[in-house]
Amino acid sequence: MQELKDRIMAEGEVIGTHILKVDTFLNHQIDPAFILRMGKELAERFAGEGITRVLTVEASGIAVASAVALSLNVPVVFAKKKKASTQSAVYASQIYSFTRQETVTITVSKKFLPADDVVLIIDDFLAHGEALKGLVDIVDQSGARLAGAGIVIEKLFQQGGAALRAKGMRIETLAAIEQMEPGKIDFA
Ligand code: G4P
Ligand code: NA
Ligand code: NA
Repeated sequence: MQELKDRIMAEGEVIGTHILKVDTFLNHQIDPAFILRMGKELAERFAGEGITRVLTVEASGIAVASAVALSLNVPVVFAKKKKASTQSAVYASQIYSFTRQETVTITVSKKFLPADDVVLIIDDFLAHGEALKGLVDIVDQSGARLAGAGIVIEKLFQQGGAALRAKGMRIETLAAIEQMEPGKIDFA
């Protein structure tokens, strides 16, 4: 998506060679009109798949996942990172964050993921793919059908997408980065 690449070039801040800060429109401040356009683009790529629900993980995935769900006219559910005591019947998966060097448990209430669902996973970043693998695990546990995943920004050099695509999963990304360093970003 050209508009996204332009915004990344104009506003993104590369930290070292691995982290891209896009705090002006995606990860801290949100640009709602732009998020809606990105959501529409991702929704169009999965049109005709019969999607009944969008799934993401808190926090940064929620805005774009809501925009996709609005376009598809379906509900959006976000996996929680802290298990609340009120959550009894949940699907759970452990994910390891390379960025934070910690393991967290993500949970989704079973009532929001029935087995006859067709699920589209949405997230803001795809890096090592740990979050995405955890969400796929939860969909597998539910027995629902996974249509694929839509990602705003994929960092190809961190290989998360490659492993999942090798297993036959469909992953659509709006901007894929081959490599980067301060002042220079190479898109695929
Ligand atoms: P992975 O999920 O793909 O394996 O990646 P990793 O463990 O490295 O990512 C951990 C967190 O950092 C995730 O957010 C992910 O979205 C975010 N992240 C990864 N790479 C980048 C990047 O280059 N820039 C930015 N801005 N974020 C990145 P999270 O911890 O789940 O938290 P939240 O921010 O969604 O609440
Ligand atoms: Na994030
Ligand atoms: Na995220």
